[in-house]
Amino acid sequence: MNRIDKKTLADFPESITDQVATPCYLISEDAVRRNCRILASVQERTGAKVLLALKAFALPAVFPLIREYLHGVCASGPIEAQLGREEFGREVHTYAPAYTTAQMERVIRFSDHILFNSIHQWHTHRDSIATSGRNIEIGLRVNPGHAEVEIDLYNPCLPGSRFGVSPEDLADVDLSGISGLHFHALCEQGADVLVRVLNSFENRFPEAISKMRWINFGGGHHITREDYDLDLLCKTINEFRARHNNIPVYLEPGEAVVLNAGVFVTSVVDTMHNGVDIAILDSSAETHMPDVLAMPYRPHVIGGGAPDDHPHTYRLGGISCLAGDIVGDYSFNEPLKAGTRLVLTDMALYSFVKNNTFNGVELPSLYTCSLASGSPKLIRSFDYSDYRSRIA
Ligand SMILES: Cc1ncc(COP(=O)(O)O)c(C=O)c1O
Repeated sequence: MNRIDKKTLADFPESITDQVATPCYLISEDAVRRNCRILASVQERTGAKVLLALKAFALPAVFPLIREYLHGVCASGPIEAQLGREEFGREVHTYAPAYTTAQMERVIRFSDHILFNSIHQWHTHRDSIATSGRNIEIGLRVNPGHAEVEIDLYNPCLPGSRFGVSPEDLADVDLSGISGLHFHALCEQGADVLVRVLNSFENRFPEAISKMRWINFGGGHHITREDYDLDLLCKTINEFRARHNNIPVYLEPGEAVVLNAGVFVTSVVDTMHNGVDIAILDSSAETHMPDVLAMPYRPHVIGGGAPDDHPHTYRLGGISCLAGDIVGDYSFNEPLKAGTRLVLTDMALYSFVKNNTFNGVELPSLYTCSLASGSPKLIRSFDYSDYRSRIA
């Protein structure tokens, strides 16, 4: 999938991208702020509270900016909860498909809301929460029974899904102690899909909903995409709240907070020909942009086009030894050569949080930038000691 909007070019001018050492992820504070303002407008219009999903984007350097707008973070386990508590500093809501006893001790320490995936998990851990002395809201993830995610890898509601309880799991269960329900069934989707998921959720869990003090609508809302129907989202939330005694609602998007807010800057190291022209990059799809291979999606390359759109077509290959480590085939106006810089768009989300050093591939640096400062700011670079410290 090609994800770009017109503003991306303005946020990442060459005068900034030419200054970074490659490979690197470069995050635009201007774009993050623009996204946060849209999310804040949803909060103002509906009273819903928006949380940043750390699994998509966990960069403390940008948390002070995001914290101006959003209510907190959603974490996927103890280490994200700790990061949220120590670096973000507002509400921390933690959900995982299961927690070990050792994990729960830390999750309790760092979380304001703890969400369970099963009644058994809740029963296993509820005494530790009750005796912790902390005032923690307990929620239950439910399976809303409806999703429209086309790629199975990202569909939390497939038949046989491990995510969330079904109505039959709640028969004869005393829910006292559970104060909220959570569902997550969207992936890069619009408010129209939310309407249908919400309808299924309400039909499946009417009694449970009536006993709750809050509902969490999960993530996957592509709220900051240019064609997103904000009015429909606000109407849907407001009508839901009105139907349920003005119940508080949370949203926990990841992508929407940093959509089109980052680029990946990489350089060509060598070129070769083997039936097709090939450019070998100083980076890797496998280790630096795994969703390119997993989803798969095709990042937009600034100045590049589809094969044969421009005179010079190249296969962009990664620096690892994995045969399939290929970003894709792109064409350019000028031939690529060692040292040519390429800027791949929409690389803030699910990128550096997923990278790894497989094959001894080195980790890209992290930079932020803003148009006002006009120059990139190096947040972190990595070296041998980072690689070694994870294995010895
Ligand atoms: C439980 C939960 N909440 C929130 C999110 C964030 O989703 P997105 O980044 O698509 O908005 C995810 C993503 O997988 C999730 O599993």
